[in-house]
Amino acid sequence: MFNKAALLTFSFLAVAFGQQIGTYTAESHPKLSWEKCTASGGCVAQSSGAITLDANWRWVHSTSSTTNCYTGNTWDATLCPDPTTCASNCALDGADYADTYGITTTGNSLTLKFVQPNANGKNVGSRVYLMASNTEYEMFKLLNQEFTFDVDVSNLPCGLNGAVYFSQMDADGGVARFPTNKAGAQYGTGYCDSQCPRDIKFIDGQANVAGWTADSNSANSGTGNMGTCCNEMDIWEANSISAAVTPHPCTVQGQTSCTGDDACAVSSRYSSVCDPDGCDFNSFRMGNTTFYGPDMTVDTTKPFTVVTQFLTDDGTATGTLSEIRRIYVQNGKVIQNSHVNIPGLSSAYNSITTDFCNDQKAVFGDVTDFQDKGGLANMGKAFASGMVLVLSLWDDYAVNMLWLDSDYPTTSDPSTPGVARGTCPTDSGVPATIETSDASASVTYSNIRFGDLNSTFTNTGGSTGTTGPTGTGTPTTRPTTTPPTTSPAGATQTHYAVVKAGLARLSALPARPARFPTPTTASASKFLVVGFENAGRSRSWNGFLRFRW
Ligand SMILES: *[C@@H]1O[C@H](CO)[C@@H](O)[C@H](O)[C@H]1NC(C)=O
Ligand SMILES: *[C@@H]1O[C@H](CO)[C@@H](O)[C@H](O)[C@H]1NC(C)=O
Repeated sequence: MFNKAALLTFSFLAVAFGQQIGTYTAESHPKLSWEKCTASGGCVAQSSGAITLDANWRWVHSTSSTTNCYTGNTWDATLCPDPTTCASNCALDGADYADTYGITTTGNSLTLKFVQPNANGKNVGSRVYLMASNTEYEMFKLLNQEFTFDVDVSNLPCGLNGAVYFSQMDADGGVARFPTNKAGAQYGTGYCDSQCPRDIKFIDGQANVAGWTADSNSANSGTGNMGTCCNEMDIWEANSISAAVTPHPCTVQGQTSCTGDDACAVSSRYSSVCDPDGCDFNSFRMGNTTFYGPDMTVDTTKPFTVVTQFLTDDGTATGTLSEIRRIYVQNGKVIQNSHVNIPGLSSAYNSITTDFCNDQKAVFGDVTDFQDKGGLANMGKAFASGMVLVLSLWDDYAVNMLWLDSDYPTTSDPSTPGVARGTCPTDSGVPATIETSDASASVTYSNIRFGDLNSTFTNTGGSTGTTGPTGTGTPTTRPTTTPPTTSPAGATQTHYAVVKAGLARLSALPARPARFPTPTTASASKFLVVGFENAGRSRSWNGFLRFRW
């Protein structure tokens, strides 16, 4: 997932976060009840459940006064001359969830408003985590289990992303590993994801002040030299038009910081320890344009239930992750996920398996970083260790969410398989526009359930469709045509552009850089891409040669 971090637009009191605790506002975590389910015992309410707001959204000020440590998109030079001094000088304060951030809960239901006007201007988007206690995140061990929630996306138009996902954060927010972090999970610290985001203001108990560069298109964010990487399982990235489920593995386990352009995948999109694209299943992108949307099979004008199952090769919680299945329930009816309808891809697929990912990447001509970073097996190791539940709502300052709900890359022919992802226009989703035109947008997540396979949902209204093949069939023909010279983006590949090969002088480009994925003879595609990519939120572009054979 991309750029989920702070998009806070306070007009004058900008917030940051520190690693001490401030006390101007008492931190009172909104309650959010959820359920644990077993096949034998049914579902049991976890009424002590609560959420906490991510630290990047919070006010951070001097430990001794109300002086901001960070204002607009700039650090205070006196309080924050360097990462360590800043972390000890700055305190992270409590949140007024409803009034400042537009975050409300009742019972088992959580609503995130897109734009919340407040005393300081307005807040845009938010990101919260499910707590197990006042100081620790709830840890979900997903293998051989299923995760279920109800969602109302009817008020989420083009360009917005109501996201439910798991990140492999520390349960305590990093306090034990990084003792200079005093705020911990209680104040929403320790975030990480597969994009190795560098807009996080404090990482590993240090302020990300070194190399901090204010964003040119956002008054409230910037990026520092450090990023924070970890395994990420995107259960749900969606609006009323499109939805995607996407695992993003890493070659490391646990929250892992990066420093510098190469390690944080700024100089090259695939040079970090994590897979930024993932292996996505978006029904529209996979060829069924009538399955998900207003008045479609899954009718997004009304609430529905989203079930995600994590199957292992041996049917136990100690096995290897082998399949991620999606099931919907609406009006009491179980709706199996749509099947693939793409020339060259087996229509048996309706879930994420290693074969599905291999074939999808080959047919779409996508980079195989998912496989290169360990695929489902590495994702499953993270599931075994435990993941933190993230619930968010965001807009996309990088590429306007077009990778989710429109044609992307916008320069590619939309009839090329993999390019069309939804019906939103290619000029939709511009944050500066939708933060005004769709300010009242919101998403509601409710009735979170977790537990044994098939234990979190029932079919009370008759099934539509049976459980289809699970993608174990032999894929049909691999592509024989030359894949497009663009490498269509994966689910969250958002910084990518290509120029025609003729515009680049080969002599001016380096030999194949070592950081590109090792070509694999397993791929049937042979092609050469010459282009430029912007691999991060900096304004620098890199020429590249990409070979596949
Ligand atoms: C899309 O999914 C629906 C529901 O499963 C199915 O009836 C329809 O045939 C599918 N369309 C295509 C083009 O695969
Ligand atoms: C869950 O339900 C599906 C469809 O009815 C079935 O194929 C599968 O075996 C069930 N899994 C378990 C663990 O009960």
